[in-house]
Amino acid sequence: MNFHKNHWLLFSVVFFGYVALAWIVGIGPAIWTQANSDPLPGSAPLTALEQHGLEVYIAEGCVACHTQQVRPLKMDEVWGRPSTPGDYAHVRPLGMLQPYAPAVLGSERTGPDLTSIGVRQPSATWQFIHLYQPRAVVPDSIMPAFPWLFDVVEQPAADAVVVPVPASHAPASGKVVATERAAALVAYLASLKQVALKGEQASPAASKASTSTAPASAPAGKAQAQGAALYASHCASCHQASGEGLPGVFPPLKNDPVVNADDASEHIATVLNGAHGRTIDGRTYPSEMPGFGDQLSDEQIAAIVTHERSSWGNHGRSVTAKDVTDVRARGGRK
Ligand code: HEC
Ligand code: HEC
Repeated sequence: MNFHKNHWLLFSVVFFGYVALAWIVGIGPAIWTQANSDPLPGSAPLTALEQHGLEVYIAEGCVACHTQQVRPLKMDEVWGRPSTPGDYAHVRPLGMLQPYAPAVLGSERTGPDLTSIGVRQPSATWQFIHLYQPRAVVPDSIMPAFPWLFDVVEQPAADAVVVPVPASHAPASGKVVATERAAALVAYLASLKQVALKGEQASPAASKASTSTAPASAPAGKAQAQGAALYASHCASCHQASGEGLPGVFPPLKNDPVVNADDASEHIATVLNGAHGRTIDGRTYPSEMPGFGDQLSDEQIAAIVTHERSSWGNHGRSVTAKDVTDVRARGGRK
């Protein structure tokens, strides 16, 4: 073997070396991606409205702070399972060109990953208030407000989406009404739901990870810490860390009769199935309480309910996973 004398040898080593390298780093991965990028069963293409919302998402620069890709890292488990190419199969607004697909992946993680925000925060009302002024619902938020997605009008039209901004952040006069761009953006956010891969449990929500990361100070304090962590990740966005809710928008759980009732079944049923249209302490609420029966286990719901019953001066009796199983079995008396 002498490269100096046999130029064919020299040439073929270089040539086939490059061909092999191209396969390994370029062509092979491309073929794998192509073969694995079919839409996942259970996923759906974006509707025209959601598609428009995706365009608003890009135009408003949400991608500067939010990712939509879950990495196979421990710290990302709260956002769901690691993303696969199939998760992005429907994000193809311009056919083959796909200019948007890489764009919404994002790389800056200033805010939470939004891969499954449609599961984590299904309430459109919450999303509208949060976009109008993040600090109205998340007191320490550093997310910028997007007031230009809303109009302030004196007399909203009959079909207008009136946003119940808490008085502390509402304009001095007039009502906040979502523009058609805000409505599209919120429809798009609601469509962001990670679907389960074959053979995996269909729970993309934060539940698994937030349980495992709950600080376990003492064995006895473990359920308590779990309840507090789950409350923070699933309930505090609306009912607030203080349990006081937001006046006129989300009811307080502090001193709430359902939370302090001896019979916990209505409390449990509310968390399982959600609620809408109740009169609580003489008030009705404009938005809905989402149900959590699909994404939280009986044990997790018991931990949250017990946490609520023993916090902020509440004095309801604690509940067990069995209580939750019983209410579930009865179809959860609404
Ligand atoms: C400058 C960075 C920044 C920009 C730009 C930004 N966000 Fe955020 N976002 C944040 C931060 C920080 C949080 C966490 C605090 C909070 O919930 O307000 C957040 C939270 C959120 C949440 C709640 C996530 C959760 O898990 O509860 C949603 C939904 C959201 N942003 C959507 C958007 C949308 C839609 C846009 C574009 C219109 C946007 N954000 C633009 C920084 C940003
Ligand atoms: C998207 C906002 C939102 C989230 C998140 C939320 N709630 Fe609610 N919750 C509400 C609203 C709104 C109501 C009032 C429902 C009605 O008008 O019937 C309510 C009502 C309740 C009630 C009934 C109070 C009563 O007196 O009838 C309980 C209990 C409750 N929520 C517990 C929880 C728990 C536990 C969680 C977390 C697992 C949670 N909520 C998450 C918005 C929310």
